[in-house]
Parts: sequence; structure tokens; C-alpha cells
Amino acid sequence: MFDGKHIACIGAGYVGGPTMAMIADKCPGRTVTVVDINAARIAAWQSDALPFYEPGLREVVDRTLNRNLFFSTDIAKAIREADVIFVSVNTPTKTFGQGAGCAADLQYWERTAREIIQYADSDKIVVEKSTLPVRSAAAMKRVLMSNEKGLHFEVLSNPEFLAEGTAIRDLEKPDRVLIGSDETPSGLAARKVVVDIYAEWVPRERILTTNVWSSELSKVAANAFLAQRISSINALTALCETTGADITEVAHAIGLDTRIGPKFLKAGIGFGGSCFRKDILNLVYMCESCGLKEEADYWRTVVTMNLHQQARFVRNMLSRMFGTIAGKRIALLGFAFKADTSDTRDTPALTVARLLVEEHAELVVTDPFALPNARKDLADLGEAVAFTEDPMAALDGADAAVVMTDWTVYSQLDWARVFAKMRKPAFVFDGRNCLNHNKLYEIGFQVFAIGKAPLSHLDR
Ligand code: NAD
Ligand code: UGA
Repeated sequence: MFDGKHIACIGAGYVGGPTMAMIADKCPGRTVTVVDINAARIAAWQSDALPFYEPGLREVVDRTLNRNLFFSTDIAKAIREADVIFVSVNTPTKTFGQGAGCAADLQYWERTAREIIQYADSDKIVVEKSTLPVRSAAAMKRVLMSNEKGLHFEVLSNPEFLAEGTAIRDLEKPDRVLIGSDETPSGLAARKVVVDIYAEWVPRERILTTNVWSSELSKVAANAFLAQRISSINALTALCETTGADITEVAHAIGLDTRIGPKFLKAGIGFGGSCFRKDILNLVYMCESCGLKEEADYWRTVVTMNLHQQARFVRNMLSRMFGTIAGKRIALLGFAFKADTSDTRDTPALTVARLLVEEHAELVVTDPFALPNARKDLADLGEAVAFTEDPMAALDGADAAVVMTDWTVYSQLDWARVFAKMRKPAFVFDGRNCLNHNKLYEIGFQVFAIGKAPLSHLDR
């Protein structure tokens, strides 16, 4: 019935764009059209300046754009022509009404279901790519099957596991591709169509098929587990700082246990990004909705710990800098939520910047790719914040260098030269543990890293 040769994707964001570019690249026999209500974003995909920075993305888009990958605002046409429609719209935390601050805001997602029934004139496979609360597919199916054209829709779940900064590598060699469908004859047939798309480049044993609800919940659960590891390691950092244990050594030692494993044990200022907090809060809300208070409380602490880590970082700065940072020039090195992306959504740097400005610091923000977003995020702070792409300029005359993002450029700076330019005593607060702390100390800096004993000449 379906051959999966004509694919549409609703939502041309961080997931929809790269994922569909990869499908187009690996499946030259299929046509992929990505649509969005945001015309500026669609124009950016068609231009020399992609909507965001992602290593390797330019090359994939260059190979496929206008060959079998198309970006368009013509949602009606894309829906009509496709037999498989991926839905990759944003599902942020709800800011209003019931579940505000916790539940997923499903308005964008539901709107796509209505667009599909408005424009479709044949049966379709609809694939949830967005991260959604478990059982969302049932609601999607109900909306779709309310169509009065007698059309049949199969709703599948195919959550995305890519991480920003490594999206292309993750898409090319995924740990697994997860496809959930109804286990009815038509559900299984639709599942095969979607499996066949990925099977063009992903080894078959890495394509996992489950029922829809397992697939939906596995996505949220994976993010919750990853974030939980970060909060767990961060929950040991204050203890390290006061006892002389070193969090990097502790992480290494525990990570060698094959049952624990070494990944996602990097202590720091806390996790950011558009998804971890949102997805855990969504899980909290799902638990609460099912009357599972203890489970909800358990997952909520992962987020609480993350916020605590950021507040603790600024409190430590304040205390180390003699109880006041008013009027002091503080250089924030990095604003993106992690290295190799221009994305600043929910970045810890935002919380830290705001707390520092509350203390009347004079802030200078630098970042190799995220400054346009940083400028928007901090626009309301006016003159209290300056921006520069040049880290040396940011550090000129600064009292403190504060690492917010682990861009390699910061570990490669000529720190002796930086020291000469800064006001003394010169402080370094490394929120990502990515600098050579002993070397900085030898140069003369007062060095405060996360989960490590202070290296301060002032304490002698
Ligand atoms: P995004 O905000 O970058 O992109 C979503 C896009 O959907 C926007 O461009 C928006 O204009 C568009 N859109 C919204 N409603 C629309 C409509 N009715 N019709 C057409 N277009 C519409 O979001 P994202 O980061 O790509 O995330 C999308 C989903 O994928 C979310 O559920 C997220 O949780 C999940 N996810 C994100 C990542 C990530 O790294 N960003 C990774 C895995 C999963
Ligand atoms: C994360 C997941 O890793 C992806 O699998 C998932 O698809 C995605 O969320 C999503 O659903 O949006 P992403 O947020 O892009 O990907 O990036 P991560 O590498 O997971 O980093 C998230 C945050 O945790 C960053 O701020 C990073 O600096 C921080 N982090 C990560 C640590 O503090 N320590 C670590 O050990 C790892």
C-alpha cells in the first residue's frame, strides 16, 4: 500500500532538519520534503547560513538539497504528496493552565494532526519524531481518525536520540533506532515501511521495534537516565570540594566498573539544552497524573539538583571574590549549553549570567557560535552585559574568567597572556572542568573548579 518513497517532515528544527537531511543522503531513491510554519527558518535551510551550527551538517545538506531534499512552507502540498509523514515539532513545557511548568505543551503537535486531516487526500503513515508523553499516539490517532474523508492513518512512534554537536555522527551511526507501532496487521505493515527507510544504512540489529507505548516512554526514560547520571555526579562535587577528593578521579574510578560505565559522568555546572529538564518534568507530570507521588518526587530531584548546582556555583564565586562582585568585570567563556552547538536553550550560562547581574557584576559574554542567541536571551539586561567574539578581548581587564561551555578554544588560550591582561587577583572558575588547573595555578591564578579542592594563592 505504502512504498515510503515520498517522505514529509513537519517541523524543520534541530531534529527535523538534520534527521531528514540524513534520510535524504542515505536514501537517494526517496524524496524528502521538510516543511515549517517559520518561513525564515525554511529560507535559512535553503541559504548559505543554516539556521544553527552543527558540525558536518553543511556537507550533508550540500549533497542533498534540491536533489531529493526540499525545504518548503507549503505544508498542504507536502502532506498531500507524502505517504510517510514525520512530525518533529516542538513540545516545550507548558507555561499555562493545568500542568503549567511541568506537562508537555501539545498544542503545536495537535495542530499538525489537524493540518494532516485538512490536506490529506490519501491514507498516510504518521510518525511521531517529537518527544511526547506516553500514549500521545492514541490521542493523535483519535484526532486523525475523526476525518470525514474515510482516510486511514497509522500512527507510529520513532523518537530521536541524537545529541546536538554530534547530531550527524549520531544519525549516521545510531546506537539504536526505535520504532513503535500497533501490533495489528496494518500497524505491522506500516512498521515495515519505516524500518525499510532506516535499513538503507542502519544495521538491522540496531533497529528495534516495540509497541507504541514502550517506544514513547523509552525516549523520555533515556533522557531521564542520562540527566540523572549528571545530577548524581554533580551531587558529589560539593563533598569533593570540602574533603579533597577529586571528582574527575572519582568519576574515572566508578566509571571503570562495567556495570556503571564511563559516559555521562562529567561533573560541571549542570545540564542544559532544550530537552533534559523538559522531558524529566514531563515524566514527573505523567507520574503525578497516574497518582504516583513517590515516583514523581524521585525524578523531580534530578532537576532540583541541577538548579542547585548552578546557584551553588555563583554562591561560591561570591564567597571566593571577597563577598562582592559588584562592579567587577566577569568574562563568561561560552554561552551555548554545550560545545559544538550554537543552541542556548536552557543553557546554564543563562542562569549564571542572571545571578551575576543581580550581584551587579559587569558581564562580558563570549562564544564562538552562540552570540546571536546570547544577545537575544540577555536583551532585557541592557548595558549590564557586553558581548564579544574574541575571548582575549572579553578577558582584558577582567577580575574573573568563568568557563560556561567546554569549547576547546578556551583550553587552548595562552593563559599566561590572559593572566597578564587580567586584574589581580585573577580568578578562574571552571564550570566545565576543561582547563589545566595546575598550570593556571602555577601562572598565578586563583583556580576554582567543580568538585576539586581550591587552588588559591590567597589561602596560604
Ligand atoms: P525546534 O523548536 O528546533 O523545531 C520545531 C519546529 O517545528 C520549529 O521550527 C517550528 O516552527 C515548527 N512547527 C511548530 N508547529 C508547526 C506546525 N503546526 N506546522 C509546521 N511546523 C511547525 O525543536 P527541536 O529541537 O527540533 O525538537 C523537536 C522535537 O524533537 C521536540 O519534541 C524535542 O523534544 C525532540 N528532540 C529534540 C532533540 C534536540 O537535540 N533538539 C533531540 C531529540 C528529540
Ligand atoms: C540529549 C541526549 O543526549 C540525546 O540523546 C537526546 O536525543 C537529546 O538530549 C534530546 O532529547 O534533546 P543534548 O541535550 O543535545 O542531547 O546534549 P547532551 O550531550 O546530552 O548534553 C546535555 C547537557 O548535559 C549539556 O549541557 C552537557 O554539557 C551536559 N553534560 C553532558 C554534563 O554536564 N555532563 C556529562 O557527562 C554529559
